[in-house]
Amino acid sequence: MNAIARPELCVFELAEMRTDVLRGLASKPKRLPSKYFYDARGSELFEQICAQPEYTLTRDELAIMRVHAHEIAAALGANVRLVEYGSGSGLKTRLLLRHLQTPAAYVPVEIARDALRASVAKLASEFPQIEMLPMCADFTQPVALPRAGRSAQRTVIYFPGSTLGNFDAHDSVRLLKQMRAEVGEGGAALIGIDLKRDRVTLEAAYNDAAGVTARFTLNMLARFNRELGANFDLSAFRHRARWNALAGRIETHLVSARAQSVRVANHTFHFEIDEAMLVEYSCKYSLEEFSALAARADLRVTRSWSDAQSRFSVVLLQPH
Ligand code: AVJ
Repeated sequence: MNAIARPELCVFELAEMRTDVLRGLASKPKRLPSKYFYDARGSELFEQICAQPEYTLTRDELAIMRVHAHEIAAALGANVRLVEYGSGSGLKTRLLLRHLQTPAAYVPVEIARDALRASVAKLASEFPQIEMLPMCADFTQPVALPRAGRSAQRTVIYFPGSTLGNFDAHDSVRLLKQMRAEVGEGGAALIGIDLKRDRVTLEAAYNDAAGVTARFTLNMLARFNRELGANFDLSAFRHRARWNALAGRIETHLVSARAQSVRVANHTFHFEIDEAMLVEYSCKYSLEEFSALAARADLRVTRSWSDAQSRFSVVLLQPH
């Protein structure tokens, strides 16, 4: 049974988005959750970001998977129920599924319906023998995930793309704890993390010369205009991404180019000139820092694979 054919399984609600946006705009400083980047257009723009020369993250992770997928799959073992948080385009997943020994099921959990549907359709035709159990949901909220028809040896959560980096330390630890609870004592998590580099390289990755990242960031406002009936003037906000060395993260803001008011669902919000609204964190780690973060969720790094230039790492976490 295909879960995306049943709309009642889509637990991500418009009302929730409205609540999040109103709360974020009312807080000081203003902020908007980065998960709302990924409507159909946003997912498309993210794919374009991955093709920009400055943004090497996705290519680095793919290279690691190309070289090590066999070894990674062996470390996960046979008959795995593979849960993926934020399934995206499915390129890396394909490499993993190809090498896994008789996986019991693949359970992608993805907020972007269109991206989920497209990626599962492709994977299902390539892997007809693997049970596909897609779930349109926000993986940051605990939600009961479908069990495999055939009993699994263990559950492994695959969380690639350094998406964990979008959360601050407190929320990352909360999410890691949620993963630990989901996989249980015998389970594991396979997580992609972007490693620390110099400021110039990192800032260039989030301020590409072609301006794709700026379009991606601003698209969130276009989405709110369309789906929440807001009236953001897209020409009156500028994209800004800066490395915060102390916090170890890229911080992306939308900066108001002038004093202005914006209406969202019968509420008015005022912006000062140059007022910055936080829209995304992209945390970068050293392996040591990441081990310490995982330890706070009672998880241990048991294996890790990196690219030749140590720009990215795929890490296997297991309960203590
Ligand atoms: C998909 C979360 C890994 O933070 O690098 C890319 C999203 N934002 N450019 C990241 C993103 C701006 C991306 N992740």
